[in-house]
Order: sequence, then C-alpha cells, then structure tokens
Amino acid sequence: MKIIIIVGSLRKESYNRKVAHFIKERYKDKLEMEILLLNDLPVFNEDIEENPPNPVKEFKEKIKQSEGVLFSTPEYNHSIPGGLKNALDWCSRGDRVLSKKPTFIVGSSSGDIGTARCQSDLRKVLDCPGVAALNLPGNHVLIGNIQDKFDQNGKFNDDTTIKRLDKVLDNYIDWVKKIK
Ligand SMILES: Cc1cc2nc3c(=O)[nH]c(=O)nc-3n(C[C@H](O)[C@H](O)[C@H](O)COP(=O)(O)O)c2cc1C
Repeated sequence: MKIIIIVGSLRKESYNRKVAHFIKERYKDKLEMEILLLNDLPVFNEDIEENPPNPVKEFKEKIKQSEGVLFSTPEYNHSIPGGLKNALDWCSRGDRVLSKKPTFIVGSSSGDIGTARCQSDLRKVLDCPGVAALNLPGNHVLIGNIQDKFDQNGKFNDDTTIKRLDKVLDNYIDWVKKIK
C-alpha cells in the first residue's frame, strides 16, 4: 500500500519529521511510504489556482497517486500550523486530491497534551466539502513532551508511543482494506 506522509513542520530538525522517518522505517514491510515536505509550497492564492506553480502540481500529484495519507504534525498556537493548512487549502480546490483519501494523524509537540487541539481542528478541515478526506476514526496518536523522547543518537525511543503506533498502523491498514 502506497502512503504519503505529510510533515506539518518546515524546520530542518523537526521532531515531526524525525517521527515520520521513524514510521517510514519501522513499517517498511507493511507500507510503502514517501515523506512530503511543505517547504516549497507558495501561499494559496485563488488567482493562480487554475494553473498553480509546479511545486503545488507535484505535491498534489503525489497525493493523487497514493492510497492514503498520514499527517505527522506539530500544533501551532492551539491549532494547525499555517504551512499545513495552506497545503490543505491547495488540495481543496481544482483537483481535489484528498477527496475520499483515507488519512490518519500522528502529532508531536513540546506541550503536555501532544497536539490534541491541532488534531481536533485538522479533523474538522479534513471533513470540509472541498477536502472531503476520510479520517481513521477512534485512533489518536498524541505525543507530548516530544523533546524528551529521543536517545543520545537521535533515535525515537518512547516505547509506549511505539506500541500505540504499532496498533494504530494495523488498525489503519485493516480500515483501508474494509473501505476500499
Ligand atoms: C509558532 C509556534 C507555536 C506553537 N504553539 C504550540 C502549541 O499551541 N502547543 C504546543 O504544544 N506546542 C506549541 N509550540 C511548540 C511546538 O510543539 C514545538 O516547537 C515542536 O517541536 C514543533 O514541532 P517540530 O519539532 O516538528 O518543528 C509552538 C511552536 C511554535 C514555533
């Protein structure tokens, strides 16, 4: 199964980017995953939506060719980081590449409640008519205090979350097969 992982943070040393790489490596026998960054996407503008810049076309095409999308995102100011919201806005117009796409969310933040508010807002946006993505129900992966969850070599080492991820990944794969 071909899955795109969208990283909600643009910074080079992003924990969410590291978690995305961890997921890609750990589940490589179950899912073929490709990580997409948001760094090259311009800010959405209706004036250019019919013929958007190439980075937007390439980003949307990758999503279109995938069988599902995973979000690995931080929370910014109790909500969705602007870069990720911008990407969703691009996907909501013209070719609506997230429509009916099975998605799930993994969120890491430095706060105690690990992106709970961002995830709640993200689910709301995924459910908008223009986006119309499907989201794995009943499975939340909230990783708080993310800065404390890597070993000295930079390897993600939070066993509780890893067990949770193992379960959610299996739930996601079963769910995608069911809804196909
Ligand atoms: C603009 C901004 C707003 C933030 N707002 C929140 C927040 O609302 N809740 C939270 O838990 N952490 C917040 N943080 C801290 C992030 O969780 C932390 O910087 C995290 O490492 C960002 O993810 P990244 O490592 O993938 O870039 C914020 C950080 C920034 C830069």
